[in-house]
Amino acid sequence: TVGKSTNILWHDCPIGQTERQNLLNQKGCVVWITGLSGSGKSTLACALSRELHFRGHLTYVLDGDNLRHGLNRDLSFKAEDRAENIRRVGEVAKLFADAGLICIASLISPYRSDRSVCRSLLPKSSFIEVFLNAPLEVCEARDPKGLYKLARAGKIKGFTGIDDPYEPPSDCEIVITCKIGDCPSPKSMADQVVSYLEANGFLL
Ligand code: PPS
Repeated sequence: TVGKSTNILWHDCPIGQTERQNLLNQKGCVVWITGLSGSGKSTLACALSRELHFRGHLTYVLDGDNLRHGLNRDLSFKAEDRAENIRRVGEVAKLFADAGLICIASLISPYRSDRSVCRSLLPKSSFIEVFLNAPLEVCEARDPKGLYKLARAGKIKGFTGIDDPYEPPSDCEIVITCKIGDCPSPKSMADQVVSYLEANGFLL
């Protein structure tokens, strides 16, 4: 599907990202949350969206599980389909950031190379990678959808962390660490990201 469009030309509009950002009093960016299934990515995404909303900022959450009900319903969990999943969401997130929004993407995005493709789509500093570092033991004990149980029983093949890889970020903007018996609350995780956005000039 990539590289098939030919004879196409870019068209610019006089109202661009700067004008939209001025209306919104914020800088468009992508907050990309990566971590194991059950690590709390969606919880953090929603807590962050809520926190920013009440401070008067416009956000939009792109959640991996939700997008697989529509835009990405044709994709499986094998590595090449995960790559296409991440690429598409990266492109959509780029559009939201260009619209001036604080776009919060929460996907397992287990491969470093896929995440770096998304990073390369955005201007430097506008891609903020957040590693929700919850160990497998914690995620598996939570098992909110019962998927780890099914994966352990061999009823789901290629489940991240069980029989499929997860490559933690080696150099990301924010790490949120959750230990056994000691995980930060959704609000304190969100506050950690809000502080970063404030300190780096995204919230005007
Ligand atoms: S990925 O790896 O980024 O393409 O995955 P993502 O689009 O975020 O979707 C993850 C959710 O899909 C469910 N699910 C699986 N996860 C991992 N491996 C396998 N094989 C799998 N099959 C289904 C699972 O509910 C994930 O949701 P989260 O919110 O991460 O728990």
